[in-house]
Amino acid sequence: MRSALVFGGSSQIGMPLLNRLRSDGWRVIAVSRDERSDEPGLQWLRGDLGRVEGLPRQVETIFSCGPLDLFAQWFAGTPPETGRVVAFGSTSIDVKRGSSDAGERENAARLREGERSLFATADARGIAATVLRPTLVYGAGRDRTLTRIARVAQRFGYFALPRDAVGLRQPAHVEDLAAAAFAVAPATAAHGQSYALPGGETLTYRDMVARLLDSLQPAPKLVELPGPMFNLLLAAAHAAGHAQGFGEAAVARMRSDLTFDAAPAQRDFGYAPRPFRPTADMFAQREA
Ligand SMILES: NC(=O)c1ccc[n+]([C@@H]2O[C@H](COP(=O)([O-])OP(=O)(O)OC[C@H]3O[C@@H](n4cnc5c(N)ncnc54)[C@H](OP(=O)(O)O)[C@@H]3O)[C@@H](O)[C@H]2O)c1
Repeated sequence: MRSALVFGGSSQIGMPLLNRLRSDGWRVIAVSRDERSDEPGLQWLRGDLGRVEGLPRQVETIFSCGPLDLFAQWFAGTPPETGRVVAFGSTSIDVKRGSSDAGERENAARLREGERSLFATADARGIAATVLRPTLVYGAGRDRTLTRIARVAQRFGYFALPRDAVGLRQPAHVEDLAAAAFAVAPATAAHGQSYALPGGETLTYRDMVARLLDSLQPAPKLVELPGPMFNLLLAAAHAAGHAQGFGEAAVARMRSDLTFDAAPAQRDFGYAPRPFRPTADMFAQREA
């Protein structure tokens, strides 16, 4: 029987991955910092990437759907014997490396170091590793961009954008990302490679938000403001304790194209993401 060890199994990408592995008959061991109930074909271990008890001695594939830097550190220690590792990183590795925000630059540096360390450990031990870098993730009501926009819009009945929010985006659905992790595991062409995983449609930030708002019931209004007016509104929101973490760098990015090529992933493991067709349930509140 095929066996998998999954970190980040409770994450928005991890949950659909666990389902895929189990439906395909894999024996799955997943790790969480919280107590979780076992299900047929799925055993949960309680622990984190610093310390986890009861790991198997040997496992066919290790998947990481949580923080890449912590996973790479754990992997550099004494992981179970394995021949294959598939780990999620992020396109932020490139997008945020030149950000005006120090926190974002740090995040990009952590991702870079995580990938470097993961491949170095894998090479030294003769293990085949692949890193998958999703773009903007949505679909499970737990992401920090589109679901957050939906919540704000539902609360106030409108959502404001600067008029020039025309940078291109490729939102990627969690089910397609889980399918990619599942499909890449047996793909030998993917050994030692990193892949961008964009969504199946490229559209402007404005159109992405407009489509999201249209999917909600009742549909909140999209308000497009001149740049200075938008900045005033954002400053007022910050003063009232809203939109924390959404700063100057994020506003500037709305004008920039953040697009990636899906062709290598399509060629090497048949990645076929869906176009962006949001429905209200994709942004409804969910528990991990
Ligand atoms: N969200 C996005 O837009 C986005 C974009 C690009 C790439 N990604 C990548 O896609 C993957 C999944 O992202 P996500 O947003 O669904 O989840 P996330 O917030 O990055 O990670 C949450 C998951 O990581 C696990 N985790 C966190 N700290 C841990 C620790 N110290 N030890 C063990 N497990 C730990 C959590 O498990 P427990 O809480 O059960 O312990 C949970 O399952 C991540 O690699 C992320 O970097 C996400």
